[in-house]
Amino acid sequence: MIETPHIKCNKEDISNIVLMPGDPLRAKFIAETYLKDYNLVNNVRNMLAYTGYYKGKKITVFSSGMGMASMGIYCYELYKFFDVKYIIRIGSCGSNNKEIKLLDTILSTSSYTETNFSYTYSSVDVHEIESSNYLNEIILNKDNTIKQGKTVCSMVFDAYMENKEEYNKRLPKDIIASEMEAFALFYIAKMLKKDAACLLTVSDSLYDNSKISSSDRQNNLKHMIEVALEACLEVL
Ligand code: HPA
Repeated sequence: MIETPHIKCNKEDISNIVLMPGDPLRAKFIAETYLKDYNLVNNVRNMLAYTGYYKGKKITVFSSGMGMASMGIYCYELYKFFDVKYIIRIGSCGSNNKEIKLLDTILSTSSYTETNFSYTYSSVDVHEIESSNYLNEIILNKDNTIKQGKTVCSMVFDAYMENKEEYNKRLPKDIIASEMEAFALFYIAKMLKKDAACLLTVSDSLYDNSKISSSDRQNNLKHMIEVALEACLEVL
């Protein structure tokens, strides 16, 4: 049994490939819906994690919580203490581009942040970091309709910013979507010489106020989860 400050489980109960939704209950949903012979392997702080088999391949689904701080803790501990090699985040995002529509599936090829995450972490001033080409190619092979591009990672939920227009003006012009965890994941993966990817489903848009039905949202999430699970089968 390994006990880190935030995870308590046996090393062999964690696969070398991990899917990371933000929401603990989504981890439970994925295990119940897609995995055979699954077990709950972590419940410290209710950050639920399950390991089971998808088409015979051992996969762990481990929730990350929200924000770079929470993601940074869990991905670091999984890579460093549990010998995880690959993490695919599966989350939701806002659209920053007219071409990116509600319910689109996005692959983040790099994450930009204006925060000082890298400076605090390792005293270097990095604001953009790429995801794993190896994982991205496998994912795009499963569904070539997925839109890919640079995403922005913020420390504040952008809908609550006091001056969102100023914020958006400061950002690089080629950003397609916003979320709150990918920079921490990609940065720590690079630092520890591991692989990380991030698939996102668009749940909010600067350009579209229409409400999406819960069944559309659910079907779309399922598509993203299935692409991620199928990609896991190809990973060595
Ligand atoms: N911004 C940041 N993170 C998000 C959003 C958003 O609009 N939607 C879902 N996660």
